[in-house]
Amino acid sequence: MASAYQIIDHAYDVVVVGAGGAGLRATLGMAEQGFKTACVTKVFPTRSHTVAAQGGIAASLSNMGPDSWQWHMYDTVKGSDWLGDNDAMEYLAREAPQAVYELEHYGVPFSRTEEGKIYQRPFGGHMQNYGDGPPVQRTCAAADRTGHAILHTLYGQSLRHNAEFFVEYFALDLLMSDDGKCEGIIAWKLDDGTIHRFRAKMVVLATGGYGRAYFSATSAHTCTGDGNGMVARAGLPLQDMEFVQFHPTGIYGSGCLITEGARGEGGYLVNSEGERFMERYAPNAKDLASRDVVSRCMTMEIREGRGVGAKGDHIFLHLDHLDPAVLHERLPGISESAKIFAGVDLTRDPIPVIPTVHYNMGGIPTNYFGEALDPSRGGPDATVPGLMAVGEAGCASVHGANRLGSNSLIDLVVFGRAAAIRAGEIIDRTAPVPEVNAASEDKIMSRFDRLRNANGAIPTAKLRDKMQNAMQDDAAVFRTQETLENGCKRVSEIWGELGDVKVFDRSLIWNSDLVETLELENLMANAITTVYSAEARKESRGAHAREDFVDRDDTNWRKHTLSWVNDAGEVTLDYRPVHVDPLSDGIDLAKIAPKARVY
Ligand code: FUM
Repeated sequence: MASAYQIIDHAYDVVVVGAGGAGLRATLGMAEQGFKTACVTKVFPTRSHTVAAQGGIAASLSNMGPDSWQWHMYDTVKGSDWLGDNDAMEYLAREAPQAVYELEHYGVPFSRTEEGKIYQRPFGGHMQNYGDGPPVQRTCAAADRTGHAILHTLYGQSLRHNAEFFVEYFALDLLMSDDGKCEGIIAWKLDDGTIHRFRAKMVVLATGGYGRAYFSATSAHTCTGDGNGMVARAGLPLQDMEFVQFHPTGIYGSGCLITEGARGEGGYLVNSEGERFMERYAPNAKDLASRDVVSRCMTMEIREGRGVGAKGDHIFLHLDHLDPAVLHERLPGISESAKIFAGVDLTRDPIPVIPTVHYNMGGIPTNYFGEALDPSRGGPDATVPGLMAVGEAGCASVHGANRLGSNSLIDLVVFGRAAAIRAGEIIDRTAPVPEVNAASEDKIMSRFDRLRNANGAIPTAKLRDKMQNAMQDDAAVFRTQETLENGCKRVSEIWGELGDVKVFDRSLIWNSDLVETLELENLMANAITTVYSAEARKESRGAHAREDFVDRDDTNWRKHTLSWVNDAGEVTLDYRPVHVDPLSDGIDLAKIAPKARVY
């Protein structure tokens, strides 16, 4: 099959797939060390979804009051509902200040305090004094366009260090050796239809999340879990896929994000009775409780008949009491979004909001250096040679069952950087770049050709719609055995229908129908592992809230779910232990031991 397509060959030390914050930070780190580095991306780097990250990046700089990396670590452990790996969470919190100062020196235009220090705002779940409060100002911000600022800076720096960018190339699959090493990728160049083989000593997947498996998401339409799909097709596991984060404040109707920074700057939620209901549920942190908690409280208010609007199906976010000058300076982006997507002038009226899919805690299992894991290679922490994953595609696991706001941007840069540091230690600079495994390449191109010529009865958009609705209905904020079993059945049936998909356009140039079909297959690998993992987990933890198993069950379920899906859509589950040991001796183990999670 490969011979039916002419394939253009490239050889690199490192190929990074994806050019969001994690991909660019990894690319920059690799290129800085002199590795011949390619970054392959399906969108122009500065259009990657990180550009939409608004509120900020967490690091205990203590610019606006007392803070410490130990408090940051504690909040992350608690936010994860004790499912995160303590070594990874310690690494994140410890390295965060250094990673932010690096960004500052690279040129990120952070907002400033009067004294010229990096401005920091409060964010949900970030507290002083090991959770006792009050809220800490830890989230470093460039107004409400922090991701935008970081992305542009990292792209410029990567170019400065001679990283090579392959823009609008769609990565099809991983080239694997017969003994399970990753040796590169095959990609399709969208604008001229050529096929490219990128052989590499190290592939870093930085392909982001899969928010678009759901009907309503803050994620860009490009967030289709492509790296996760590639990993699943390579027979490797995904981890903790049941944990899907709903952001409390997506704009009702469009799903567009209104940053948590809005509540950090003093915004609050009200129900149809004008009540600030979060005071009832989280007396300490109130509107700045962690996201899973706030999303559940909003859903309960709506269910109990206290939603706002004609259908009583959403909640109001008030910012109209804040000084318009503050809104203008600190939140200019959401002022615009509220106007465009809700028709609201937020200096005068509340914004209609609803919990909206925002982030995937699960992904490709890795250690805290970003090396991908495959327990079948010799134990729960065995690594896959030649493969790393960072950012939302990876699962280190630093967010466990629930991520704190602003811990995503810091995850991107800390672990993008960690992957580069690790690559510097393990890549043999003198070894040749691996030759191609013809059987692996043939398999990739056969699939590509089959989808390109798919001539069934169901248009891609129709199947995608079915998948998105099934996930939205049955793997939602609250879950039960019944909804999850129903979700498994629906998503499995849709998997069965993939064989009957119809692609209308057979060309190789700008074939968006084929792109969307490839994306749909990736999304389906994510969706099916999500719903099966969720059905199996008989407890509530973080973003996985079961109405039939309302408590967290540390005895039986403080473990990571591993999920595999084969070509027939059969899902296999297994589990691996949570890393309970932190990295250093300086951590008070009693402090980070599991306890009731109250805000
Ligand atoms: O609300 C926000 O600005 C989103 C931040 C995040 O997801 O970390």
